[in-house]
This record gives sequence, C-alpha cells and structure tokens, in this order.
Amino acid sequence: MTDALAPLSLRDVEAPNRIAVSPMCQYTCEDDGLPTEWHRVHLGSRAVGGAGIVMTEATAVEPAGRITPHDLGIWSDEHAAALEPITEFVRDQGGVPAIQLAHAGHKASKTRPWDGNVPIGPDETDPDGATGWEVLSPSPDAYPPFEGDRPAMRKADQDDIQGVIDAYRAAAERSLDAGFEIAEIHAAHGYLLHEFLSPVTNRREDDYGGSFENRTRLVREVVRAVRDVWPEDKPVFVRISGTDWLDDREPESWDIEQSVRLADDLAELGVDLVDVSSGGLHPDEAIPGGPNFQVPLAERVREGADVAVGAVGGVTEPEQADALVRNGRTDLVLVGREFLRDPYFGLHAADELERDPAEAAKQWPVQYRRAVRR
Ligand SMILES: Cc1cc2nc3c(=O)[nH]c(=O)nc-3n(C[C@H](O)[C@H](O)[C@H](O)COP(=O)(O)O)c2cc1C
Repeated sequence: MTDALAPLSLRDVEAPNRIAVSPMCQYTCEDDGLPTEWHRVHLGSRAVGGAGIVMTEATAVEPAGRITPHDLGIWSDEHAAALEPITEFVRDQGGVPAIQLAHAGHKASKTRPWDGNVPIGPDETDPDGATGWEVLSPSPDAYPPFEGDRPAMRKADQDDIQGVIDAYRAAAERSLDAGFEIAEIHAAHGYLLHEFLSPVTNRREDDYGGSFENRTRLVREVVRAVRDVWPEDKPVFVRISGTDWLDDREPESWDIEQSVRLADDLAELGVDLVDVSSGGLHPDEAIPGGPNFQVPLAERVREGADVAVGAVGGVTEPEQADALVRNGRTDLVLVGREFLRDPYFGLHAADELERDPAEAAKQWPVQYRRAVRR
C-alpha cells in the first residue's frame, strides 16, 4: 500500500516521499525580487527537515506580478543565478526543488501582511519606501478588494495577455537554468489566472471571457507555453482553487465541477499534478477551515480527472498525512503552516511512521545522527 513515506515518481523525477513544503510567501526580498539569506535558510532548513519536495513561495514571472514589492521573482538571468545555490542545496539534502510561478493580477502592489496588506498606488510607497504600480485585471470593475481601497487597475488587453504568457515561458526557462525540477503554475487564490477562470472576476466579452472554454483559455495558453520549454522528463504542476466558496452565486462562480473539467484539460496538455487549494478570490467567500478542509476537493479532482493530485490545508500530523495517501485520497500532501512551526516535519513524520527505526534514523542528516532518539 502506498503511504506518505513512499516515493512519488512523476516523469523522471522521484520525490523521496509524498510530503511537500507548500508554497509560502516570505515577502523578504529587497525591492528587486532576488532571494536573500532568509530564503536560503528558510528553504534549506525544510530540505534538511526531510520534505520530499521543497517548493518556493509564489515567484513572480514579471515585476508587476508581485503581491508586494518584496516578493521573490524570476524575471531575469540574475534571479536564476541567485536561486541556483538554493536548488543545489535542496537536492544535496535529497529533496526535489520546485518553484511556484505566479502573477498576482489585481491582488498585486500591496503592502506586506505585517504592514496591513493595503494597495500601494503607482505614486505611493510602502513603509520601506518601495513604490507601487498599476495592477492588471481581466475586468477592473468586477469586485471589491479584500482590504483597503480599490487599487489602480487596468483591464488586460491582448498585448498584456500575450506578455503574461511570454513571461511565464521565460520564467520556466530560467527556472530550469536555476536547477528546479518541478514548475508549478499558480492559478489559485484570486491571482491573475484564477481571476480569468472565475465568472465572478471575469466579465470579459472577448475570447478570454464568458464560456468555460474562454475563461480557461489563458491558463491553457500559459500551460502550453511552460510545457513547451519545460523538459519532457520533468513534471509540471498547476495549483488551482477547487472552488471560490461563493456557493450562493452558483453557477456564477468557480466551483468543483469546473475544476474537475479543467484538471482533465490540463492533464491532456501535459500537466502531471493538480494541487488543489481553494478560495482567495472574493471577500464574501465562506471558507470552512479546520483539519483536511480542502481534501474533499482534491479527492473529487482525483476521482473525476485522469491526473495526480496534491491535497493541502489543515494537515498538521504525520499520521493525518499518511492516512490521506493510504486511503487513496491524494497522491501528494502539501504542508504549509505546520512546516513553519516545525521545519523538521518530514523527519518527524519518518520517525513516527517508519516501522523500522533504523530506516527512520537514516533519513536524518549524518551531521545530526547523534541526536536521533532510539
Ligand atoms: C505565510 C503563508 C504564505 C503563503 N503563500 C502562498 C504562496 O506563495 N502561494 C500559494 O499558493 N499559497 C500560499 N499560501 C497558502 C499555503 O501554501 C497553504 O495552501 C495554506 O497555508 C493551507 O495549508 P496549511 O493549512 O498546511 O497551512 C501561504 C500560506 C501562508 C501561511
């Protein structure tokens, strides 16, 4: 029976176990998108801590795609070169380095969470003196902001759309140069690609709005561009919001049926795993929360589409992660906040789940073996 400690093989990439660090923004760059010592230590310690896959935070494919001026980016060769030591270190620890490629759309140009998460206008600065910018949106008048006033928004025209597709392609090429083995396209949480998917935020009347086919067009084009340059032997993931949690608006919002249908389309385009999160699009969302709260969405995608899935949300215990895999509810478990509380969650999971203590001990770095409990 497959369990959370079993390797996960996708194309020619094998993760040593099925526990991944979920992408988590650190908002800790200068105003240049380059990784800092924080990123090296943060991602490096989760690799030391036994995660099978270590995924970066949302990494902007172009400067306007950053949530805050302090987000990580990959829009130049300098970014790729600066990320390379991190991917090397993760690999040295036995983990698989993955990057989440993102464009924040209308949720861009904000102050950091600890500075209030409020929009920074093109003529304004955040508390660190970083300047804001005009943000891109499928339809600027479609929805209220989560916090603060409406940001300065511009409706994406055909050139903007092509620019986003090209930026994703170039970012994927640079991710490869940087040594990443998995590219995850961020199409969740109310950011640009999700804004196109959901009828709540997409009121366009051109080829990118209206029908399911049209609303999903941009995601499909981005996937094609990434798959074009991403090697055949390496996997591509897509993170989606399985639902907008705006049930009272059905069928006017993005829901699980559309997610299943999209997942099938994505699989045909060469996507290997759909990472199923939820929400983040609209302040009226009713997110349930609690242990495993998004797992039923991943399960539905796994049942309904011919693609591997990742489950995320409210996983805090090794046994819980293990049960999700053992019971066939998911192929991969992504762990977010628990990996912030415990960078060694992967090693602790091995200690708890591995039947043979000698095997569990072997997973600890040699430098730390004298600390292993027997
Ligand atoms: C500090 C923080 C930053 C996050 N940043 C991202 C991100 O960059 N990309 C993303 O897809 N999700 C992001 N998330 C969501 C997590 O990846 C994860 O889906 C969510 O926290 C639920 O999982 P958990 O209950 O294990 O924390 C973030 C969550 C936290 C707590």
